[in-house]
Amino acid sequence: VIEYVTSAEGVEPADLEGFFVGWPRRPSSQKHLALLRGSSHVVLARDGHRVVGFVTAISDGVLSAYVPLLEVLPEYERRGIGRELTRRLLAQLEGLYMIDVSCDEDVVPFYERLGLERLEAAMGLRNRDAI
Ligand SMILES: CC(C)(COP(=O)(O)OP(=O)(O)OC[C@H]1O[C@@H](n2cnc3c(N)ncnc32)[C@H](O)[C@@H]1OP(=O)(O)O)[C@@H](O)C(=O)NCCC(=O)NCCS
Repeated sequence: VIEYVTSAEGVEPADLEGFFVGWPRRPSSQKHLALLRGSSHVVLARDGHRVVGFVTAISDGVLSAYVPLLEVLPEYERRGIGRELTRRLLAQLEGLYMIDVSCDEDVVPFYERLGLERLEAAMGLRNRDAI
């Protein structure tokens, strides 16, 4: 049974193994826990102690939010967990003017089904030494 929680309280680094699949450099579990704690909004999917999916948002609390990270562990994919995490996050962010996500092209249909629309341009910097 998957449980959804809106805080990283009680999560240990060891509960966060296996994420950042395909990243050339993977953040450590300690960094993962720190970014969960540092986000203004978080939803975690837990299977017992283990975190099997997570989504974060950073918001100014007035107009805007950005959703930097969403991931479900490979062995838990395609069971509706990603959709449920995002649905619950969007519910927390309800009322804001803009909620932005940058994602790979293959995930566009996933977000479109959740009501997001394609925007004109996304610009960004990536400092890979920061990981
Ligand atoms: C994208 C991701 C979070 C989806 O999580 P998930 O738990 O497998 O998704 P769900 O089971 O909730 O899928 C919801 C719907 O989206 C579809 N979907 C899921 N992943 C998809 C993908 N990569 N491409 C196209 N459609 C996808 C599913 O088929 C499902 O639709 P359906 O119910 O009509 O079949 C997960 O595949 C993942 O962690 N990917 C790697 C990291 C990533 O790309 N994160 C997003 C970057 S911002």
